[in-house]
Amino acid sequence: MSAVGSRCHHGGRHHRNGQKATDMAGTPVTVIGMGMMGRALASAFMNAGHPTTIWNRTPGRAQALVEAGASEAPTVDAAVAAAPLVIVCVRDYGAVRDLLTPAETALSGRVLVNLTSGASDEARAMATWAAERGAEYLDGAIMMTPPGIGAPETVILYGGPPAPYETYEQTLRALGGGTTLISTDVGLPSLYDVALLGIMWSTFNGFMHAAALMDTEKIAATDFLPMATDWLKGVASFLTAYAQQIDEGSFAAEDATLETQIPPVRHLIHESRIRGIDATMAEYTGKLLAEAVDRGHALDSYARIIDHFRA
Ligand SMILES: NC(=O)c1ccc[n+]([C@@H]2O[C@H](COP(=O)([O-])OP(=O)(O)OC[C@H]3O[C@@H](n4cnc5c(N)ncnc54)[C@H](OP(=O)(O)O)[C@@H]3O)[C@@H](O)[C@H]2O)c1
Repeated sequence: MSAVGSRCHHGGRHHRNGQKATDMAGTPVTVIGMGMMGRALASAFMNAGHPTTIWNRTPGRAQALVEAGASEAPTVDAAVAAAPLVIVCVRDYGAVRDLLTPAETALSGRVLVNLTSGASDEARAMATWAAERGAEYLDGAIMMTPPGIGAPETVILYGGPPAPYETYEQTLRALGGGTTLISTDVGLPSLYDVALLGIMWSTFNGFMHAAALMDTEKIAATDFLPMATDWLKGVASFLTAYAQQIDEGSFAAEDATLETQIPPVRHLIHESRIRGIDATMAEYTGKLLAEAVDRGHALDSYARIIDHFRA
């Protein structure tokens, strides 16, 4: 993944409205949304020394943060007015718009960073909404759960104009060392987010299916785990060649042909059925292979299956 933004700190850039943004430990931040994730974000800013204002629809959900020095704003308008950098992280984009509407005037001249999960079209619409209110807008996707916020390996993907990102990059880095501006397009973090989550869920499902199979022989999931995780490393390495084939549009099998993978998939279906395990995922894989072979791609690599998803 290529980052459009430089990771280096550009020092005290002049912000659009003339104020000098000094992006350092003292930069005040506002965090709106005190759910599990919002509380983790505010806590990470506080740990990095940022004066932090918080607001939540239901007051009092972040008492521990207030006791640690956060300032709980009485209104969302006051919360937005309290800092040049406003982070919002709530359930969905509809909630973001609803809650920020009473603070429209205060938003002008601020940098709004939306870390709420959503889809690319929602992010683009939100950017237009923010621009109409005079705010600079970055959209972000958090690729981590709350306990990992602030860790050096935590990845948070941003999209939007480079200027506000560069202005506050060091401040945002308090949330995760893997802070990256991946695109000037505010829609792309959401796209990366769902694409990566899709990989996660299909991997989870593969493991659950396998663990259920092993369980029929009383092999504990924890005993099976080391073999499964080593296997995943091998599977990840296969993707290197497949990604190249997808980009080049040439699918000659260098490891195993589609044709040779049909019998093992049948075995997985059979083994699942005789053990009373749901075989739906394996049947779906079998369908993808059969379709590709029917289209004349028997001797191609697994990367050829991209055609199905593109269609
Ligand atoms: N938790 C994770 O592991 C994780 C990881 C990556 C991304 N995210 C994303 O982060 C966002 C927040 O997740 P979370 O885990 O913090 O969820 P959460 O614990 O369920 O908190 C939801 C937050 O949204 C607020 N909210 C919901 N509807 C609202 C509305 N109509 N108006 C104003 N505020 C509203 C809630 O306020 P009240 O307290 O008033 O109900 C609360 O602050 C989501 O988009 C989620 O997908 C979460």
